[in-house]
Amino acid sequence: MLEVEDLTLAFGGVRAVDGLSFRVEKGEIVSVIGPNGAGKTSAFNCVTGFYKPTGGRIRLAGNDVTGRRPSLITALGVARTFQNLRVFGEMSVLDNVRAGTHVWLKQRVADALLHTPRYRRTEREATEESNKWLDFVGLRGDRAGLARNLPYGERRRVEIARALARRPQLLLLDEPAAGLNHGEKAELLDLIRRIRDLGIAIALIEHDMGLVMEVSDRVVVLNFGKEIADGTPDEVRGDPAVVEAYLGRDADEEEVEAAREEVGGARAE
Ligand SMILES: Nc1ncnc2c1ncn2[C@@H]1O[C@H](COP(=O)(O)OP(=O)(O)OP(=O)(O)O)[C@@H](O)[C@H]1O
Ligand SMILES: [Mg+2]
Repeated sequence: MLEVEDLTLAFGGVRAVDGLSFRVEKGEIVSVIGPNGAGKTSAFNCVTGFYKPTGGRIRLAGNDVTGRRPSLITALGVARTFQNLRVFGEMSVLDNVRAGTHVWLKQRVADALLHTPRYRRTEREATEESNKWLDFVGLRGDRAGLARNLPYGERRRVEIARALARRPQLLLLDEPAAGLNHGEKAELLDLIRRIRDLGIAIALIEHDMGLVMEVSDRVVVLNFGKEIADGTPDEVRGDPAVVEAYLGRDADEEEVEAAREEVGGARAE
């Protein structure tokens, strides 16, 4: 579904992404991990067309989309969520999700102005589908109320529901577990698997190693824009370069042990 080949993105002198290659197949969950500033979000921004890569290729289901506009990439079936949650607080919960349906819902202006039966039918379809996705993500709370009145963890669900309402083939999740409590993280793990089971390819940026190691088919590790590892969770957690990247060079023994726990201790019991 997604092929990233030798991707490079430079901001002036800084190479935010430097020769990154990875693939995500249909029905697969691939995580991109690495320390703060490693270039993870920048790589996603290249995939969605928000940034124009300086070099390399990005293909979606075989189509070369390198440097193409975000609207085209969305139309080809890519949806995402953001590291800094983007939910419209002054809109209702349901309308936030309905906003996602506009990618495929072809409303004609004339129909909308005249409130024709056709318009009402498609609007009803959008509402039904949005409610279905809110059920799917397990939203608790009032759907008619303003999104800003929901607790943080629930707003995260709304954002995922909106992305799903776009009917994506590929879903990019940027730190979906950030700010969630233990129970919410467990529910997120289950949700990510259920999304995968729909046949949607998932690329996940995440700092929570427990979640990453549990849910991922493969893990790509970035450090200073460069790919330092790519493999199964088991392969990656045993990789000394990965432990070092999470730690830096001048660590003492105790810190090395702590980083090993962070990366390796996430093993399923
Ligand atoms: N618009 C920009 N202009 C200039 N530099 C940028 C821009 N966006 C990102 N960078 C730089 O690119 C590098 C990678 O940033 P990026 O946000 O991709 O990291 P990240 O891996 O997502 O980190 P985090 O885990 O903290 O979210 C950083 O050095 C950052 O300062
Ligand atoms: Mg980031």
